[in-house]
Amino acid sequence: MDSVYSGKVLVAGATGKTGSWVVRRLLHYGIPVRVLARSEQKAREMFGEGVEIVTGKIQSLGDVARAVEGCSAVISALGSSSVSGESSPSEVDRDGAIRLIDAAEKAGVRHVAMVSSIAVTKWYHPLNLFGRVLTMKHEAEEHLRNVFGQRDLSYTIIRPGGLRDGEPLQHKLQVDQGDRIWNGGIDRSDVAELAVLSLWVPKARNKTFEVIDEAPEPQTSLEGYYDLLHD
Ligand SMILES: NC(=O)c1ccc[n+]([C@@H]2O[C@H](COP(=O)([O-])OP(=O)(O)OC[C@H]3O[C@@H](n4cnc5c(N)ncnc54)[C@H](OP(=O)(O)O)[C@@H]3O)[C@@H](O)[C@H]2O)c1
Repeated sequence: MDSVYSGKVLVAGATGKTGSWVVRRLLHYGIPVRVLARSEQKAREMFGEGVEIVTGKIQSLGDVARAVEGCSAVISALGSSSVSGESSPSEVDRDGAIRLIDAAEKAGVRHVAMVSSIAVTKWYHPLNLFGRVLTMKHEAEEHLRNVFGQRDLSYTIIRPGGLRDGEPLQHKLQVDQGDRIWNGGIDRSDVAELAVLSLWVPKARNKTFEVIDEAPEPQTSLEGYYDLLHD
């Protein structure tokens, strides 16, 4: 397939469940991929020789700077997995994401897509009991909007409902803006597809939106969902 996007894309959180779908969908479209991974072995086992690997942690400015160097876009599917330590919400969802955004801007990256979550603006939501994860994500979102929402740079922030595992393009989706959705789920593969599409779909530029499944219904493309978003 001819590539629809020219430029190399860094995937942060690539060895995670959503991030690995991001890598697969980038490769599907013939887009060169670099991943930032804590474990080179894990990344190599998952992706083979088809992707470039930068080994490192999101805590290390040096690792992050090496990872973004020479990339034209970044897709972040980073996510915390423990209440404290290097995989905590403050370390990963806020500080790690902010470090990545700043390093990307410094390196000349043009577009950043980030996987966030529904309910990030609701500090009182029960999910926030886990290390204030929603608040941490919201702070990173705000930083991304500030840094990449200016000049000729761009961002796309995807706020999915509860994540499930399944093949992409198998569901009709519901998109919304303003953080009004309280529940619902979506396949990680569709979140990944939306993040990848944001690289070249003009209406994805500088958008923050929520997304969940509506019903099982095969889709030929998810691009049209971006037409439903307002500025
Ligand atoms: N679960 C849900 O229902 C739900 C709902 C809405 C939004 N979300 C959000 O969606 C995103 C993706 O979720 P997921 O379930 O696909 O995540 P996941 O499988 O837990 O993957 C998280 C990724 O982040 C990486 N990571 C964590 N700490 C790191 C560090 N210090 N340095 C470098 N990489 C680090 C992990 O690396 P390793 O592979 O090395 O561990 C992994 O690649 C997350 O932001 C999550 O909060 C989740």
